[in-house]
Amino acid sequence: MEVKSLLRQEVAPFFAQFAMLVAAAIVSDQVLHALDLVWVGRYLGIPGTLLIVLSFLYSLRKRKMITVGSPKALLWLHETLTWAGSLMVLVHAGIHFNAVLPWLAMIFMIINVLSGMVGQRLLHRSRQHLKEKEERYRSHGMSKEEVEREVFWDSVTYDLMAKWRIVHFPISFVFGVVTLGHIVSIFMFWGWK
Ligand code: HEM
Repeated sequence: MEVKSLLRQEVAPFFAQFAMLVAAAIVSDQVLHALDLVWVGRYLGIPGTLLIVLSFLYSLRKRKMITVGSPKALLWLHETLTWAGSLMVLVHAGIHFNAVLPWLAMIFMIINVLSGMVGQRLLHRSRQHLKEKEERYRSHGMSKEEVEREVFWDSVTYDLMAKWRIVHFPISFVFGVVTLGHIVSIFMFWGWK
């Protein structure tokens, strides 16, 4: 894949998606302030977390713990719900600094979202490669070398995906633990203020 198409097909959508998340968080925060509804933001952490938790329907489907829903649609749901949930959490966090734990949770969430978006681009590349390979197979007979090269690139992209999972999973785990810590501490100190 040439550099230009890599930039257009993978790098640009990656940055656009993240920029949209940051812009949407800033605009939502501004709107809440303008409408004197800043308190709404404080509670957005709850639906935001619920959306992120709901997005794990994909994991349940992947591990055959549930059998309903197409994996493709559920992955789309995972990507969309984590995006929307993260937006709510970002508005919820705002720029208020009260304690270290919530900020750690937010930093890990942002790293998690960025990592998720990298995985999404890698998966997109893998699919493109497979599609191109299939089309080439169908249209004309390929030489042995060509097939080997194609298979090699497929394995590289799949290999990248496998390596990415090794990174994405622990990030998600740490994010989950720190978030849980934040939630538990909120309930422990609830009503004290
Ligand atoms: C709060 C943020 C996020 C968390 C906690 C999270 C967590 C996870 C976890 C635990 C998995 C592994 C699923 C499994 O194998 O069971 C996963 C996979 C994946 N996530 Fe996320 N994710 C987040 C955000 C995102 C975002 C924003 C995107 C893309 C827009 C995304 C795209 C993906 C993709 C493409 C996979 C790979 C699916 C697969 O290998 O089967 N994630 N995510």
